[in-house]
Amino acid sequence: MAMTDVAAAGEHRGAWPFDIRPLSGLMAAEILDLDLAQPVGDAMRDSILAALNRYKVLAFRNQTLTAAAQAAFTRRFGELEPHVNRDFRSEGIPEVHPVNNLDENKRPSRGIKNIGNYAWHTDKSYMARPSLATLLYAVQLPPAGGDTEFADLQAAYDALPEERKRSLEPLRVVHSWERSRQKSGSKLATEDEKRDAPPVVHPLVRTHPATGRKGIYIGNHTSHVEGWPVEKGEALLADLLDFATQERFVYRHQWRSGDMVMWDNRCLVHRAIANFEMAKHARVLNRTVVRGDVPV
Ligand code: SIN
Repeated sequence: MAMTDVAAAGEHRGAWPFDIRPLSGLMAAEILDLDLAQPVGDAMRDSILAALNRYKVLAFRNQTLTAAAQAAFTRRFGELEPHVNRDFRSEGIPEVHPVNNLDENKRPSRGIKNIGNYAWHTDKSYMARPSLATLLYAVQLPPAGGDTEFADLQAAYDALPEERKRSLEPLRVVHSWERSRQKSGSKLATEDEKRDAPPVVHPLVRTHPATGRKGIYIGNHTSHVEGWPVEKGEALLADLLDFATQERFVYRHQWRSGDMVMWDNRCLVHRAIANFEMAKHARVLNRTVVRGDVPV
């Protein structure tokens, strides 16, 4: 979204059934007066989705959410997706993924279990129907840092020369959980995980199903370009990711206690930032993911 559109949305705040304020000139808005632990009716759900389509990242402030309440709110937007990695399924509610830097004794640790989260990615693009949105609730935060960055893949696409856009349009990209684990230096995918998430192919230029805007659909879960020599495709994807994650396309979320952040995986890549003392402070979040459409 162009800077002027976000400003205009701010001016027309009265049009929304909640108090919503833009957080940057590029994308992201905070919603100040909703309690997500309360039931959300269809009209409110639709307004939240409209705000998500407009701002791409929504920070609901001052929430107090159990894992069950988070799952119930998330379910209002569609089917919940359990994590391919069995280590990242909560006991009791497997669709709630723990995201934290705790060791087996629940103490803060420098050894990052979710190391893949620190590489730019769009959630579950290695699935045939990747996620529409992710919801991440801050259970416990370090005193400072532990930010999350988001890069706008539509703004990046818009910034490409027309000729480059035309050359990318026909390309299709293989996304692979197995390859993603290798690339991020994580524990390698197990046979079960590979069976659950075999490689899939998606268009490189993705059209957002709600807004019709085009974006470059990339990130750490990509493997190579279909029909191209692997190295040539990897080089193109790395080059595009570098381009799309320049500062001008990035919003950095600095978490506040009580934040529940919801983002649109159809048009963003995101990553966690290791800007806190991991061995000293706990960073504990609960994540839920809504299954989306087949990308076109
Ligand atoms: C994620 O990649 O889903 C989590 C990002 C974060 O921990 O900030």
